[in-house]
Amino acid sequence: MLYPLPVVMVSVADKNGKYNIITIAWAGTVCTNPPMVSISVRPERYSFDILRDSGEFVVNLTSKELVYAADYCGVKSGRDVDKFKELGLTPLPASVVKAPVIGESPVNLECKVTQLIPLGSHTMFLAEVVAVHAEQKYMDEKGKFHLEQAEPVVYSHGAYLLCGRQLGTFGCSVRRRTERKK
Ligand SMILES: Cc1cc2nc3c(=O)[nH]c(=O)nc-3n(C[C@H](O)[C@H](O)[C@H](O)COP(=O)(O)O)c2cc1C
Repeated sequence: MLYPLPVVMVSVADKNGKYNIITIAWAGTVCTNPPMVSISVRPERYSFDILRDSGEFVVNLTSKELVYAADYCGVKSGRDVDKFKELGLTPLPASVVKAPVIGESPVNLECKVTQLIPLGSHTMFLAEVVAVHAEQKYMDEKGKFHLEQAEPVVYSHGAYLLCGRQLGTFGCSVRRRTERKK
């Protein structure tokens, strides 16, 4: 019942250099230093063995433009289809890992697995983020990244939702009234 969840497209490469994408909602930020994320994957997924054997993946964030692709990658298996080809997505070389970056995604996190934790239905892959790519067109002149301009999508109770209106910013509850007015 926790909401919302991220919905990310995780790209992988097997030992023969074949690429695949699996959609993941059981994903999260787990540590700042070192920067770490987790994804939880069912062992029966085609991507599971690739993740385990390669120890690498890329987390590609989903924008409004990519909702169809994210859903497709979450209902079709790489056992049966080449998802990059079917969706016309662009696999670009990553800078550190062998898994490809999805060119159409606004943010890509290259990850190296540090630990596998079997939990039950899912196995959690804990991973260190070893490189980050952010699409230049969402960067302002001060170097601030505006992810909201990419129209990021979240997942809640089976639905894909656009992120809504901003209600505040970090620390707004304790900021002095005079500062708040600025
Ligand atoms: C929105 C959404 C979220 C999903 N989240 C997960 C997840 O967190 N873990 C998981 O193992 N499968 C998840 N799935 C299911 C896999 O993405 C799906 O079984 C996919 O076809 C597996 O691809 P593969 O067989 O090519 O690895 C999700 C599917 C969708 C549509």
